[in-house]
Amino acid sequence: MKRRILVTSALPYINGSIHLGNMLEHIQTDIWVRFQKLRGHECLYVCADDTHGTGTMLHAEQAGVPPEALIEAMRQEHMRDFAGFGIEHDNYHSTHSEENRALSELIFERLREQGGIFTRDVAQLSDPERGLFLADRFVKGDCPRCGAADQYGDNCDACGATYDATELGRPRSLVSGAEPLVRQSEHYFFDLPQFSDMLKAWTRSGAVQPEVANKLAEWLDEGLKPWDISRDAPYFGFLIPGTKDKYFYVWMDAPVGYMASFKNLADARGDLDFDAFWKAGADTELHHFIGKDIVNFHALFWPAVLEASGFRKPTRIHTHGFVTVEGAKMSKSRGTLIKASTYLEHLNPEYLRYYFATKLNGTVDDYDINFEDFVQRVNADLVGKVVNIASRCAGFITRNFDGELSPELANEALWRRFVEASESIAERYEAGQVSRAVREITALADLANQYIAEREPWKLVKQEGALAEVQAVCSLGLNLFRILAIYLTPILPALSQAVSTFLNVGPLRWSDIDQPLLGGRINAYKALLTRMEKKQADRLVEASKEQPEAPLADAAGENDGEQALIAIEDFAKVRLKVARIASAEAVPAADKLLRLQLDLGDGHRQVMAGIKSAYDPASLIDRLVVVVANLAPRKMRFGTSEGMILAAGPGGEDIFLLSPDAGATPGMDVK
Ligand code: 2FM
Ligand code: ZN
Repeated sequence: MKRRILVTSALPYINGSIHLGNMLEHIQTDIWVRFQKLRGHECLYVCADDTHGTGTMLHAEQAGVPPEALIEAMRQEHMRDFAGFGIEHDNYHSTHSEENRALSELIFERLREQGGIFTRDVAQLSDPERGLFLADRFVKGDCPRCGAADQYGDNCDACGATYDATELGRPRSLVSGAEPLVRQSEHYFFDLPQFSDMLKAWTRSGAVQPEVANKLAEWLDEGLKPWDISRDAPYFGFLIPGTKDKYFYVWMDAPVGYMASFKNLADARGDLDFDAFWKAGADTELHHFIGKDIVNFHALFWPAVLEASGFRKPTRIHTHGFVTVEGAKMSKSRGTLIKASTYLEHLNPEYLRYYFATKLNGTVDDYDINFEDFVQRVNADLVGKVVNIASRCAGFITRNFDGELSPELANEALWRRFVEASESIAERYEAGQVSRAVREITALADLANQYIAEREPWKLVKQEGALAEVQAVCSLGLNLFRILAIYLTPILPALSQAVSTFLNVGPLRWSDIDQPLLGGRINAYKALLTRMEKKQADRLVEASKEQPEAPLADAAGENDGEQALIAIEDFAKVRLKVARIASAEAVPAADKLLRLQLDLGDGHRQVMAGIKSAYDPASLIDRLVVVVANLAPRKMRFGTSEGMILAAGPGGEDIFLLSPDAGATPGMDVK
């Protein structure tokens, strides 16, 4: 029976570039989608960028562009990166779209009619300078449990405590640096507890993996709380109907973005019926692929919202774990926060698709990228076993038979074994156990190689009267290879296409598995996939270390193409302080340097400053300057420099030290 299936990956935030963590999810989804299509089902894969929130507003402001320009620039970047990895979305839309606005409003109205919405006052931290309510990631302070400094408003990295931002000690706004105030305002809530019974049943209906159901049961047993779905102006998002300054919280309209992207596709195509995929009771399937960090949104809030607003619930939520690199969380300084675009500059995307495929097991376990293992898998298994079959057989057929395959199968039993693996491999794909499918495929490749090794066509070809046998052996080899290529098509679409050209057949199809190629003519063999070198991976890691983490730099192109943007969080890390120059002396052996001793109120520190050409050291004594106080000390040829003083100007005699007005004292924070 032909199934009708709608599939989504989690919508990437526009505030950053696509990295290998996102790629795991999109590759996993794409493999599943391609598998369904290959099996003849109607399968649609939609995605979009997740665009709303305070962050978008602040980033756009910083870049000096309208949010819409930023959103479009990032969407283009994201689509380019996904296409680079062969991810075939049927539509890639945006949550900042008219379809999403209309659907979000419709859903909200239906929730309200159904009695699922109420309002209540909420106390929240607000930035007094910007008149802005502060989301948890825009506030930092001391952990209320262990006292660790510099913790975000929701949980502590040091001790793992979760808390309310209002409980932080010495809180500061990451937007302005000011101390936040607690302000009350009215918020809209969705009455989630009404749906507890439905969710208890639904989460045990096979819609989520068992380990996810267990995690959800913990939350369900503790008792669900109403969900705060509004945010106050200023905010970037959709206004809540009937209000002037209340917006939908980004997580309210983000999953609606799945529907909106489908709606946009349906309107463009004309042959897709929205209701057939979204109305309650629809007999189509809906599958969401997500990471384990957002399972509450997808397996609690979202099905409840759908149920309450008369839409269908997901058929299945496929939850995966995180990607680690060399055993650790991805980290920029180690070069393991790898951007998709950087990867593409160094390595073939099909290598990563294959490597992830060897790991995907349908559970929420984390997946580690270990580059030694990566090279080994690609070279030994994919190139060395699978592709090797074609390269061993093709030459004989081309050289001795003008590319013509034998009219018969030399060993039908062996061929049948390959054909009969089809259902078992399909079951693995269906269940998301791609690694097991790969294992079955490589085990078959071993059999094919063994067969060729036993028949030794390279010897037969030199024997009198054995030429027909050479043709038969190598033709069977190529037929076996073709079946493996069909099995690998969801994982390796580019290889699959190259194989179809080489074998001189149309696109590879699952339904052709039991139709051997007999007597046709193949094209000359060109390397289908080359071996990977470890040094390519090393270069990728090096290049990833060098990159500034300035995701919006491209989007800011219209404003100032030269300057990479930094996020407000990065700026908030810079501690500027007032300092008094206690002593200054020229460093005789250096052209530009003065050695300064700075008084910061709590002791002295040495700074080597490149201002010799503009200042006579004696004139600087007791002058107040602004210093970057938390710069890591740097060893220089003439001594260690423990900070940096701020100055303007092009250099030479034109260097102008920045000085605070009279009244400032050493040690004061500069904000
Ligand atoms: O966690 C995230 O990256 C979110 N942007 C995912 C949203 S998925 C969906 F609900 F929109
Ligand atoms: Zn703590």
